[in-house]
Amino acid sequence: MSVLMMQVSDPHFGVERSAVCTALRRLAHEQKPALVAASGDITQRARGEQFAAARRFLDSLEAPALMVLPGNHDIPLFNVAARVFAPYRAYRRAFGKAHDTVIDTAHMRVVGLDSTRRYRHINGELSDTQIERTACQLRDAPPGVLRAVVLHHPVVASRASERHNRVHKHAAAVRRWVESGADLIFGGHIHLPFVHALRGDGNRTGWAVQAGTSVSLRTRRDAGNSVNLIRIDARDPRQCVVERWDYREHSGQFELIALSALTLDPHPD
Ligand SMILES: [Fe+2]
Ligand SMILES: [Fe+2]
Repeated sequence: MSVLMMQVSDPHFGVERSAVCTALRRLAHEQKPALVAASGDITQRARGEQFAAARRFLDSLEAPALMVLPGNHDIPLFNVAARVFAPYRAYRRAFGKAHDTVIDTAHMRVVGLDSTRRYRHINGELSDTQIERTACQLRDAPPGVLRAVVLHHPVVASRASERHNRVHKHAAAVRRWVESGADLIFGGHIHLPFVHALRGDGNRTGWAVQAGTSVSLRTRRDAGNSVNLIRIDARDPRQCVVERWDYREHSGQFELIALSALTLDPHPD
């Protein structure tokens, strides 16, 4: 099964762990994902040197395609003038435009969305335009490819205590995107890995895929550093596997911890 994508979320450069970065680089070189998608909180404090370090690290993974999306930590917090007038300046210097994007690889269409808002300190938001444009991009994907959306803030919570972290307009987005063919919707922000079924308006099911913090010190008591790898069966592209790889202190490596084997629903005509 070929590795389509590696999700690297919430690296928080500035408080990254160098041993974990080394282990993740080794994993990427071994697994050779066609795409690395970094789902936000690239830095701890949106500083230029933190973005530059993140850029060097993400380039060193040597993936043929790289998608980097902003998180709430990638907007200045304490510098109010920068927050109001140029919130994405440091991000842009390292990664180019901080706006919505689409990447097509041989087996996937991936729509990346900026869910950060300068007027929201932590929470994320989707506009009606983002929701509708994404639905069109999902429907217009080349036939047979896996269809995915990536954003920083989660569209679903696995625990009641995390519901307040869901992106604003998550319910409308999930309904539209799943019925428009979304197979997987990736998020980060809460540093808690899980895979969760999502229902559209019709009969389709999609899947939310959340990742932990990939390389930072900001781990939770019950979730350490982790990344996700997405594989498909080349003979049957509707058979998809989401693998969760955790960094293990005893081995100093990322190890396969959990595996979700998903049979993806057909796309709409
Ligand atoms: Fe984060
Ligand atoms: Fe965040």
